[in-house]
Amino acid sequence: MKDDEKRGRGRHDPLWNSVSSFGIDELFVLPEWIADSPGESGDEGGEGKTGEVAARLASLVKKVGDCKGCRLHEKRNKIVFGDGNPASGILFIGEGPGANEDKQGKPFVGRAGQLLDKILASIDLDRSKVYITNIVKCRPPNNRTPSNDEVASCWWILEEQIKIMAPDIIVTLGAPAGRALLGSTDGIGKLRGTVHRRDGIPVIPTYHPAALLRTGALKRPVWEDMKMLRRMLDELGLPRREGEQ
Ligand code: URA
Repeated sequence: MKDDEKRGRGRHDPLWNSVSSFGIDELFVLPEWIADSPGESGDEGGEGKTGEVAARLASLVKKVGDCKGCRLHEKRNKIVFGDGNPASGILFIGEGPGANEDKQGKPFVGRAGQLLDKILASIDLDRSKVYITNIVKCRPPNNRTPSNDEVASCWWILEEQIKIMAPDIIVTLGAPAGRALLGSTDGIGKLRGTVHRRDGIPVIPTYHPAALLRTGALKRPVWEDMKMLRRMLDELGLPRREGEQ
């Protein structure tokens, strides 16, 4: 069977038909898609370009230090810088850390993160094949949306991350990330469904996984966005392999 057929692409979306009646927890677990996924590590050897990108990010972490650039530092436990494979060429950007992320210092480790893992698995991705970060690196109290000035004071970190990783594709999760990246005031319902560009980099905005946990009807548009992402990854030959960066 061809790879495309295994993944359900070009087959009139039978996967959606078969999984659309599942609960939210099962929706993105499609074992036949992930059975043949290549090696776990996106950083085989950790040398060469991958090691260089990791080293430059580590310097950035040092530069961020004990940042007190905005009021979010007052209540934070840990700065949540990012996680995954920074040399993969694929960057996911969320809104900001929640309580679990603030405790562990890693993005998307709570319920929304578990759903994000399933969404990634549905298109043959996992955290070793993408890098995940947020538009603000410290938890907004009570998980409120970060204010414009908080996003602005944290922005330089994301810009540096993007410069270092030089992603070939960016996926934004939720309205605040999509708007911030695209400099738009449009709602996520309007932003999603199209490939945008930021400094020449394709940007695919989609709903935040937390929104899917609240509103099941958003599963289908996210699924459409993920299929679009998968097609683009195949066209662009992503995730990058060591030596291709
Ligand atoms: N929601 C986000 O936007 N980011 C996280 O890291 C966790 C939840």
